[in-house]
Amino acid sequence: MTEKKKYHIRPARLDDAMAIFDLIQSHQDDLIPRPLGDIISNIDRFIVCESENVIAGCAAWKIIPEIGNPSKASVEVQSVAVNKEFRRRGIGSKLVRNTIENVRRFDPFQAMVLTFAPEFFSGLGFVEVPKTSVMHKLYMGCINCTKHANPFTCPEIAMVYDLRAKQ
Ligand SMILES: CC(C)(COP(=O)(O)OP(=O)(O)OC[C@H]1O[C@@H](n2cnc3c(N)ncnc32)[C@H](O)[C@@H]1OP(=O)(O)O)[C@@H](O)C(=O)NCCC(=O)NCCS
Repeated sequence: MTEKKKYHIRPARLDDAMAIFDLIQSHQDDLIPRPLGDIISNIDRFIVCESENVIAGCAAWKIIPEIGNPSKASVEVQSVAVNKEFRRRGIGSKLVRNTIENVRRFDPFQAMVLTFAPEFFSGLGFVEVPKTSVMHKLYMGCINCTKHANPFTCPEIAMVYDLRAKQ
């Protein structure tokens, strides 16, 4: 029988940065790598799941502006990772839901993600969209990608979650 571990989700602190770095680094096929300095500079946009002093998961967000239309800015959900030992216990879902709740105060138009895990995000209410509908993300992020030269041939799936839909 597997032992049931306790865990809780909280805002990240600077002393979590190394563990976040290692977690992202250990998912190179699924996540865009992030330098430690980038994680530290954006630590206020990370949340973590902690279990008995171990960082079991993390997630982050970033605002992606739409040119000339502040109210059409999206929030990109980034760097969602759960340590293999802790998977399929609802931690990933809690991290994404918590991130979405954290950003509602800005009243963004939508949350978006580029992902290799579409089943996970569709379970949370995200729907697939053509990459042409998230050109602002392609110009802000994908243009600097070191893994794929062209976002339209990159296998990641673009998905969005309508933050202004009636709940
Ligand atoms: C995707 C990921 C974050 C999910 O974390 P998790 O804590 O296991 O997710 P949850 O337990 O909340 O899963 C919720 C549901 O999502 C679906 N799901 C989760 N992982 C899945 C997978 N690998 N394949 C298909 N469906 C999956 C399932 O429906 C699951 O519900 P169930 O366990 O009742 O069947 C984790 O597998 C991971 O870190 N993957 C590598 C990094 C990555 O791909 N991140 C997302 C890119 S932005």
